[in-house]
Amino acid sequence: MDKLVIEGGKSLRGEVTVSGAKNAVLPILAATLLTEEPCVIKGVPNLRDTNTMLKILRSLGKNAEFDKGTVRVTQAKETNFVADYKLVSTMRASFCVLGPLLGKLKKAKVSLPGGCVIGVRPVDLHLKGFKALGTEITIEGGYVNAVAKNLKGNRMYLGGAYGSSVLATDNVMMAAVLAKGKTIIESAACEPEVVDLAEFLIKMGAKIKGYGTPIIEIEGVKYLHGAEHRIIPDRIEAGTFIIAALITRGDITIKNVMFQHLGALIDKLEEAGAHISRTDGSMRVRSRKRLTPINITTLPYPGFPTDIQAQIMSLMTVTPGISVITEKIYPDRFMHVAELNRMGAHIQREGPHAIVEGIKHLSGAPVMASDLRASAGLVLAGLAAKGLTSVSRIYHLERGYENMEMKLQALGAKIWREKE
Ligand code: UD1
Repeated sequence: MDKLVIEGGKSLRGEVTVSGAKNAVLPILAATLLTEEPCVIKGVPNLRDTNTMLKILRSLGKNAEFDKGTVRVTQAKETNFVADYKLVSTMRASFCVLGPLLGKLKKAKVSLPGGCVIGVRPVDLHLKGFKALGTEITIEGGYVNAVAKNLKGNRMYLGGAYGSSVLATDNVMMAAVLAKGKTIIESAACEPEVVDLAEFLIKMGAKIKGYGTPIIEIEGVKYLHGAEHRIIPDRIEAGTFIIAALITRGDITIKNVMFQHLGALIDKLEEAGAHISRTDGSMRVRSRKRLTPINITTLPYPGFPTDIQAQIMSLMTVTPGISVITEKIYPDRFMHVAELNRMGAHIQREGPHAIVEGIKHLSGAPVMASDLRASAGLVLAGLAAKGLTSVSRIYHLERGYENMEMKLQALGAKIWREKE
């Protein structure tokens, strides 16, 4: 296993290009199961999670070649309807092969993904949606068996205790595109990655309206064909580099970015005093003065993303004053708090709130990554800290950030990889 070692205190300067969005590419690759015709997906980030999804597609009967950011998916043999525990348990997003398998074959057997370090993460909303489409669901031996003799459009409400669900919306939408008649998903997730999936499905011949709003309408079709698509830029990676510029008092130009996907983050950072300017397809982030504390509550899109909560917390640890960060999507997503405190941060957790008392500087320490975004938060803290920080278990980071250390090195960071 590798760890990342960071010598903090360098201001990051220069240009960085954001990769394709992890949370868009995973369901879009799953959607290729809806057709036997070839599909070409461009702008694909080379991530551990992308490669897991390609393995799953191969296990389900596809050929999937990945070369220089382009994935070509073709049919190798008859589609297999069983998604194995070994693959699904390593990545929650693999559960979203259930929808396309059900749409195409009217049956699927997919392992339940299980919990993870950021919380229980149930799939009840996915199953509720499939049942509404006339699917019989049984759970046996850790697998979901889904059979639909007559997959039929229906009206359904997919809001849960924490609001809408991104992957449940994706999953059910992928089944409904090949159902008979009209489906209406109420309380659908509005995330840009759901929109990207809907746009890919439309290129395949699906009839979908209202995507990007809480009410999605799908008119089922009989057949979907192959399509070509380019993945949207990763707004979470972009957000991480925006914070990297601010936490190191640097000046970074971020390319391949969709400004409109980052509204909540930019608004909060401007409130804190950050200087963010927009040019065509890129943005420049500068830290001209010390920031002031801000309060943040994570919410479904267009609210503040939970996937940037750990990173903004790192920024607030070195922003003198009190900030309150409230997590409303995953109330237990605070594994990074204890690690940041090991670096000298003053953070107190009270239920879904983290109260951060910002100090002048952190001091480097050995810390451990517990999940993908927590790892990013710790790397950012290391960039700002005095002395050496080592972040172990960086395989988490590799799940969702393409070439993170190389991109940071190019911006002037002193960061390198060592064996643990
Ligand atoms: C997606 C993202 C993840 C992000 C999350 C929230 C992908 C691959 N991952 O995960 O990076 O952190 O959205 O923006 O796109 N819930 C239920 N029942 C369900 C499903 C979800 O109660 O059946 C709850 C979850 O526990 C959570 C909330 O709903 O509290 C939102 O989760 P959801 O949007 O489903 O997250 P994912 O789609 O798994």
